[in-house]
Amino acid sequence: MSDDVICTDKTEASNIVIFGATGDLTKRKLMPALLKMIECGLVHPQSRIIGVVNKRTQDEWIQMIKSGLDKYTPGGAMDEAKWKSFSSMLHMVPGDLSDDTTYSNIANALQSFNGKKNAMFYCAIPPQWYPRVTQGLHAAGLVDQSEGYRRIVIEKPFGMDLKSAQELNRALQSVLQESQIYRIDHYLGKESVQNLLVFRFANSIMEPLWNRNYIDHIQISAAETLGIEYRAKYYENSGALRDMIQSHLMQVMTLVAMEPPVEFTADAVRDEKMKVLRAIRRFEPQDIEKVTVAAQYASGTINGEKVPAYVSEADVSPDSATETFSGVRFYIDNWRWQGVPFILWTGKRMEKRVSEVMIRFRVPPFNLFDAHATPPKANALVFRLQPDEGIALRMNAKMPGLTTDIQRMVMRAPYAHSGMNVPDAYETLLHDVLMGEATLFSRADEVEESWGIVNPLLEKWKDRFAINRYRAGSWDIPEMEKLFEGCVGGWHKPS
Ligand code: BG6
Repeated sequence: MSDDVICTDKTEASNIVIFGATGDLTKRKLMPALLKMIECGLVHPQSRIIGVVNKRTQDEWIQMIKSGLDKYTPGGAMDEAKWKSFSSMLHMVPGDLSDDTTYSNIANALQSFNGKKNAMFYCAIPPQWYPRVTQGLHAAGLVDQSEGYRRIVIEKPFGMDLKSAQELNRALQSVLQESQIYRIDHYLGKESVQNLLVFRFANSIMEPLWNRNYIDHIQISAAETLGIEYRAKYYENSGALRDMIQSHLMQVMTLVAMEPPVEFTADAVRDEKMKVLRAIRRFEPQDIEKVTVAAQYASGTINGEKVPAYVSEADVSPDSATETFSGVRFYIDNWRWQGVPFILWTGKRMEKRVSEVMIRFRVPPFNLFDAHATPPKANALVFRLQPDEGIALRMNAKMPGLTTDIQRMVMRAPYAHSGMNVPDAYETLLHDVLMGEATLFSRADEVEESWGIVNPLLEKWKDRFAINRYRAGSWDIPEMEKLFEGCVGGWHKPS
């Protein structure tokens, strides 16, 4: 067991059932997270990890998990003892998701469990399977909570627009209680995103500044250097607006903008996030052009390596107009935020991988100092979500010397210096599900509200046949300046 982590014995023994147990998410994220949680004592030692697997033997599946862990666990290949203890928790239930027998096999596996029949069902499968799987679980009596808790984790994307999200909610809620559904948004599991809440609500000096009187605009961004990798089939129908803005970045926006909740519980926090979503100004078709940007990467060079254009990626249509970059300017029409632009943007194949929340304050009302020297710049508070998680405050300070020249000074608080073990988002979120803690998961009404907000944009963009291009590995998106019209400092490209 690592000695730099806090262990807890509060979780009950559980059956962690994974649908999609041979998939990429399981290999890259779920298994490494579970391994670490087990090491840290965050999973009860009598728990089991049950993979629902089709067309493979148990040995083949277990071997696949081992290679995945060797590849994706920080620190590389595991020693024998560690693997032996982890693999003893792995069990496989064979079966096809469309076959009712699969669900009765899972029910039998649960019955053989010694103790309370708690279960978490993790849907790491394509979204079209969510209704079928929940129906199957229901028909096999697996969502009934009389013998232990039954919780279902639903991965993103949760729908592709308002209508499909509503249908999915209805399908899930027809057999499950809302409290059994955990709609995962891995951004909310990021340590730095949760720190936003602590920073806002555990410091008394922030609250007086956190409003339209002092803040000029807020930028929430996620720039990636990765392209779409092997996911063309999904991405062609999704695009950056659905993939990142409707989900991750709008969720972060609600945390930045919400009022203090009455208590730190799932419903109190989600009620406040919901109020923010309800206050977001709706887009009128004639204004959409002015407040949105969409672009697609052309070929270019990233970190010295040539990368192909989006349209040359495998399985992408050569005349695709899907956006791989998207920017949107939102307004929140309430007392705190009236008139403050919230500019959310994201792009693939950008120059750098950086996700940030930048709070840009107003410029000082008057320059008291040397009129010929550089005037003071607007202060900025930057939450670096990744990489190099931390907080930076940009201030103005006196340049050393005989004048009153001003220079920028940055006060930094990087996480790396805290010496703490920063858990991966999936560790945090899986642990929360085991604990029945839903604060960091989206509620049905939040998901529908956010789809409702972006729906007019999706409608407007759906028949697009041409799109602006940017060079991969650059910040070369001139249109972005329009989103920052009237904003102090303009577009901040993270450095
Ligand atoms: C996923 C998106 O939800 O988030 C991906 O589907 C994106 O397209 C990823 O690359 C980004 O996550 P992170 O944690 O790497 O910022």
